[in-house]
Amino acid sequence: MKRPVYRLYPPPYTDETLHGLYLALKLHELGTPERPFVYANFLSSLDGRIALEKANGDAYLPKSLTTPVDFRLFLELEAQADCLITHSSYLRSLSAGKLGNILQIGQREESADLTQWRIEQGLKPQPTVVIASASLDFPMPDSIREHGQTCLIATGQNADPAKAEGWRRRGFEVIIAGSDRVEGGPLVRALGDRGLRSLYLIAGPYMLETMLRDGKLSRLFQTITHQLMGGEAFRTVSPGAEYGPLGHLKLRSLYYDPSSPYNSGQWFAQFDIQRFS
Ligand SMILES: NC(=O)c1ccc[n+]([C@@H]2O[C@H](COP(=O)([O-])OP(=O)(O)OC[C@H]3O[C@@H](n4cnc5c(N)ncnc54)[C@H](OP(=O)(O)O)[C@@H]3O)[C@@H](O)[C@H]2O)c1
Repeated sequence: MKRPVYRLYPPPYTDETLHGLYLALKLHELGTPERPFVYANFLSSLDGRIALEKANGDAYLPKSLTTPVDFRLFLELEAQADCLITHSSYLRSLSAGKLGNILQIGQREESADLTQWRIEQGLKPQPTVVIASASLDFPMPDSIREHGQTCLIATGQNADPAKAEGWRRRGFEVIIAGSDRVEGGPLVRALGDRGLRSLYLIAGPYMLETMLRDGKLSRLFQTITHQLMGGEAFRTVSPGAEYGPLGHLKLRSLYYDPSSPYNSGQWFAQFDIQRFS
């Protein structure tokens, strides 16, 4: 997609081409098996909504949040991952047809270049997939096996042993990474032990919290669309306890797309996570 976005930070202000903007980051070169590079990406409105809730409490992603420009950048971030960390909730929404499939690289017209790009970078054509779940109740999409992807299931020690055994019998490795639920430290260590260096968190706000509180998140990407979404019941990127200094991030880059959604605009921000000892 040859359309310009404007770099607002760091200076100087410049026009850049969307296509390749985030590929240039080469995030897959920043991690090692000893210290994998973990990055996450969220999309929010100006008033902080990442999803709205229906009257029955079900959350959904409003259409006006998603744009082709943002999606291209999301896919460029995916292309740099050895491993995608998703969760049961996404697989339930995928199976119900509420969300599209984002588990494979290069399957759409707008991302057809990304598989070749991965191969040129020495990455496997498709990333490993990790599914985080405490309940272990989720449908496994056929696409993972069809594309020959390694798929691991991460859960806590308190998970139902019969369900864990059921997944093992179906040929999936189940990693116990935490006590009650999945914890960032044990999960990142287990994935590093398997040689994975760049881990893209495409799960929800609770997995983000898990990684951030455990000091495992390296970078946060956030798209902020210039709309006041409103909606009395909504979800945000940080539903848990106060973060305090841990939530104070450092801006690394900021790009501006003036044209979408609906001719308003959006910022693409990239933040480093600060370490406080
Ligand atoms: N705008 C955006 O960028 C964005 C990004 C992500 C999600 N969303 C939206 O936000 C809404 C809420 O997010 P969500 O339901 O995807 O995610 P979520 O509320 O963060 O997590 C939902 C499920 O993920 C599993 N999970 C989360 N953290 C876990 C942990 N530490 N250990 C084990 N399992 C864990 C649990 O599954 P089990 O029940 O299996 O235990 C949990 O029920 C959805 O509508 C979603 O579409 C928006």
